[in-house]
Amino acid sequence: MKLTIIGTGYVGLVTGTCFAEVGHHVICVDNNAEKVAMLKAGGIPIYEPGLEELVQKNVAEGRLSFTASTAEGVEKSDIIFIAVPTPPQADGSVDLSFIEGVAREIAGAMTSYKIIVDKSTVPVKTGEKVAETIKRYCKAKVEFDVVSNPEFLREGFAVQDLMKPDRVVVGERSQRPVPAMKQVYEPFKAPIIVTDINSAELIKHAANSFLALKISYINAVSIICEASGANVQEVANGMGMDARIGRQFLDASLGFGGSCFPKDLSAFIKISDQLGYNFALLKEVQRINSFQMERFVKKISDTLWVLKDKKIGVLGLAFKQNTDDVRTSPAIDLCQRLQKEGAILRVHDPKAMEKARALLQGVTYVADMNEVAQGCDALVIATEWPVFKKLDLDRARKDLTHPIIFDGRNLFDPAEMERLGFIYKSIGR
Ligand code: UGA
Repeated sequence: MKLTIIGTGYVGLVTGTCFAEVGHHVICVDNNAEKVAMLKAGGIPIYEPGLEELVQKNVAEGRLSFTASTAEGVEKSDIIFIAVPTPPQADGSVDLSFIEGVAREIAGAMTSYKIIVDKSTVPVKTGEKVAETIKRYCKAKVEFDVVSNPEFLREGFAVQDLMKPDRVVVGERSQRPVPAMKQVYEPFKAPIIVTDINSAELIKHAANSFLALKISYINAVSIICEASGANVQEVANGMGMDARIGRQFLDASLGFGGSCFPKDLSAFIKISDQLGYNFALLKEVQRINSFQMERFVKKISDTLWVLKDKKIGVLGLAFKQNTDDVRTSPAIDLCQRLQKEGAILRVHDPKAMEKARALLQGVTYVADMNEVAQGCDALVIATEWPVFKKLDLDRARKDLTHPIIFDGRNLFDPAEMERLGFIYKSIGR
């Protein structure tokens, strides 16, 4: 099929590439000419395991191309996916100006029937607005359908999530676009759920908010574990073996972050308010998440006492493993809080140091994770990169002026760390 994806961020670029990989002909559009030039030259603007190879392969095989022209994308394809950012505004609501702008551009370029599919995470009822906008700005009298098709990929596992989705959600207003949408997704062999547009839009916000709730739940349980001497990982394992609960997203941490959960929670709370319901449960999810970070910082200052001029090594800057994304990263938040207290930081991340530099200045960026602890009063683990489990602990113990490790991701076994001579403080254990 001939498909166009507008927006080459995490969602747009991975979606377009995976559509090409299963045999569709895909045009990826981005209004950033530099980005388009980079993609055309075989480079990719983000780190995502397996993506670069797939982009290069599909470009070489002629199924994937890039352009800065929306008109070209609209003209050459029958189905246009919108995958542009929907950033948060100061009051928690969603800035839909990119969606609106793209809808107008598509309308201006349409000369024959098109299916316009929204992939960006948007508030319920956005599809209705997109349809109204296209109708209003379409110069020619052409028919079109608007579909909501939310994306559920996780950064760091995006290719795998896209190639093997748990489900595909297709929200529509008329039956007409459904066969084409099924054809797009047929190669992925995943269950396809067809709903109305509002339900499809709500599925996305409700799912992300529920996952955030799951993390805040286990983080709240971690407080009780610490107070009672229980171990949150054992509690999570025991809970998770109940198929109705499941073990995933029950890893206690210094809090969740990223460009999705914090933003989507705020948006869902805001939408609920506007629709007349005070979703207090989700406000508590946010509160627990902030409290978890405060508790972690307090753990550090309770142990080191005055943080001014203390040297602290920090492992991890990305908001989670397998990505270079530092947007709303708990690790960056933590560093900034420590800096505010006057701590001197040595930091390392396997992939995110370059992007972190824009947000975090006045720290020493260390290329080798095993050199971070040198001369530090303590070491902090802030991101769950699996490679940190391979840290040279003997060397770290010798490099640290005091063998103290604060682990915000529970990467090590407390008993083993104690045996190795560390004062080891983690979450909920
Ligand atoms: C999330 C959802 O998982 C995806 O399904 C969704 O498509 C995406 O948002 C989106 O809306 O685009 P993502 O933000 O990439 O994906 O990352 P997650 O793997 O969900 O992690 C989010 C945060 O929660 C990270 O900071 C992570 O470290 C933290 N987390 C995750 C925990 O603290 N504990 C856990 O058990 C799991």
